[in-house]
Amino acid sequence: MKKIFYLLFVLTAIWSCNSNERVSKEVFDDVNRSMKVKKLSESQILEEAMKWGEEISTEAQTQLIGALQNAIAEKGVEEAIRFCKVQALPILAEVGDKYNVSIRRASNDYRNPEDQVKDYEAEILDAYAYNTENAIKNEPNIQKLDNGEFLLFTKAIQIPNSLCLNCHGEPGKDITDETLKVIEELYPDDKAKGHQIGDLRGMWSIRLPRAEVIKRL
Ligand code: HEC
Repeated sequence: MKKIFYLLFVLTAIWSCNSNERVSKEVFDDVNRSMKVKKLSESQILEEAMKWGEEISTEAQTQLIGALQNAIAEKGVEEAIRFCKVQALPILAEVGDKYNVSIRRASNDYRNPEDQVKDYEAEILDAYAYNTENAIKNEPNIQKLDNGEFLLFTKAIQIPNSLCLNCHGEPGKDITDETLKVIEELYPDDKAKGHQIGDLRGMWSIRLPRAEVIKRL
């Protein structure tokens, strides 16, 4: 209660100065938020983070696959690789900006070095790899980061069908020589070939600010 009085005092002070409307709105939102937090249980917050993470990863995936299929249909597999190199990360950034979250795909056998697994992701990705190797179903996961200020949503990405093998399968068998040439040109240290359907390709890794999750409740 004391904290709320203090914030109200700050609010009044800011309003009376009337110097910066934006700041006062932010403080006001904070008050609202801190009042709301009191009524929410931790499990409600985690549950909402899980739901939201699922929605965002589905949207990002739909966008990527849609763009990929269009590029293949219009220009063929080789040109689609060039398209992915230019467009994959910006498409994810755009979805992330829309929700004020950061979205990436993390992988141990990455094609784009930007997707290399980070320290805070490694253990979760290893667990998905273990499950995949032992035919255990992978479930999405929520972890707290930065003292709980962020909630990390992760979800395994396993190769669902042969479309992916055009660019992630066996060279010579699934990947044509022409395609292989483009992959080697654009990604000299590529690790993302030699896969089969069902293999783990990586995982979605979405940092959800806790405050944004609470806003949704
Ligand atoms: C036309 C070729 C092509 C097809 C088909 C394709 N990919 Fe990729 N994939 C790429 C390229 C190129 C990248 C690197 C994109 C970048 O530079 O950001 C990539 C990156 C990825 C990544 C990010 C991790 C990494 O290796 O950098 C994942 C995960 C992934 N692909 C999964 C899939 C899945 C699942 C499918 C099937 C639904 C698929 N890809 C189909 C070309 C393809």
